[in-house]
Amino acid sequence: MTLLYMKVLVTGGLGFIGSHTVVELQNEGYEVVIIDDCSNSSENVLEGITSITEKTPLFEKIDLKEKNKVEDFFKRHHDIEGVIHFAASKAVGESVEKPLLYYENNIGTLVYILKELCNKNKASFIFSSSCTVYGQADKMPITESAPVKMAESPYGNTKQMGEEIIADTCKVTPSLNAIALRYFNPIGAHPSSQIGELPIGVPQNLVPFITQTGVGLREELSVFGDDYPTEDGTCVRDYIYVVDLAKAHVIALQRLMNGKNSNNYEVFNVGTGTGSTVLEVIQSFEKISDKKLNYKIVDRRPGDITSAYADTTKANEILGWKSQYTLDEAMKSAWDWEQKVRS
Ligand code: WQD
Repeated sequence: MTLLYMKVLVTGGLGFIGSHTVVELQNEGYEVVIIDDCSNSSENVLEGITSITEKTPLFEKIDLKEKNKVEDFFKRHHDIEGVIHFAASKAVGESVEKPLLYYENNIGTLVYILKELCNKNKASFIFSSSCTVYGQADKMPITESAPVKMAESPYGNTKQMGEEIIADTCKVTPSLNAIALRYFNPIGAHPSSQIGELPIGVPQNLVPFITQTGVGLREELSVFGDDYPTEDGTCVRDYIYVVDLAKAHVIALQRLMNGKNSNNYEVFNVGTGTGSTVLEVIQSFEKISDKKLNYKIVDRRPGDITSAYADTTKANEILGWKSQYTLDEAMKSAWDWEQKVRS
């Protein structure tokens, strides 16, 4: 049973995954407060959330690197019982160029929030982690017990370190309960097309690049390599629909708030369990849009792994969560959103 009016802080709640999670939280009756510094998002997202849920979440534009502002926020909102922490920088390439920015943004802010939560009698914390912690795993599908490989970038390192910081803190803080969700590749947009992904500049990720090419904003998609040891030579990933992913956060939070967790720090993979090649993703786009996509095969992208898809048994059986949407449905939502944004 969902307890009504429980107050939840969503950091980065105007971002791609954050905004979809705010919608699902509000649909479940939670009172949501968003903190976002709008460095990679826009305040207009609030309108999208409001039009879907008929409720405007509280919003404070705060830079979480400012420790005194974080302290002041938690003083004013002393009744916050749960935090879903999305706010982070996420561009892999940029993190290589500016490592300290990433350590400050992703680690410094995490520490400030955890410090506040440790002062509470009881607190629930959900952390945005990533399948990137596995690197190129030896076995597919990837289970949560697969070894965490050396990070390939400062960004990936911040996710690994983030998990360790939370685990270490939970060990000595019984009042703190946390879950790290390791996302695979989130895609799509809300079915209403009121919120979705808004990459700044040239998209680095596959699906927004495809939809921007489809709509004519980009001339051609470059497919990075077709000589990988996979079915058709292109890389395999597990593309998870963002609304399914958002729901996993609500279920994880409920698990903690209802005291159903078996340990005060748990980790779950969040994916579909199915791998798709880049060419299969292109085919899906062509099917749902009834358009031919302009693409060419180019060299491999440095740093890309061959294959990554999730074993979702733990999330299915212990969390009680399972992805519902197909790749085609997720792709259709991304395409609808792209067309709406450009119209
Ligand atoms: C997917 C596939 C590319 C763009 C991302 C994040 C990573 C982690 C997981 C968060 C790959 C191919 C892409 C293009 C292409 N997320 N591709 N042409 O690399 O799995 O990683 O999700 O922690 O940090 O970066 O996702 O969408 O970039 O690529 O051929 O223009 O599409 O080679 O095989 P990736 P992606």
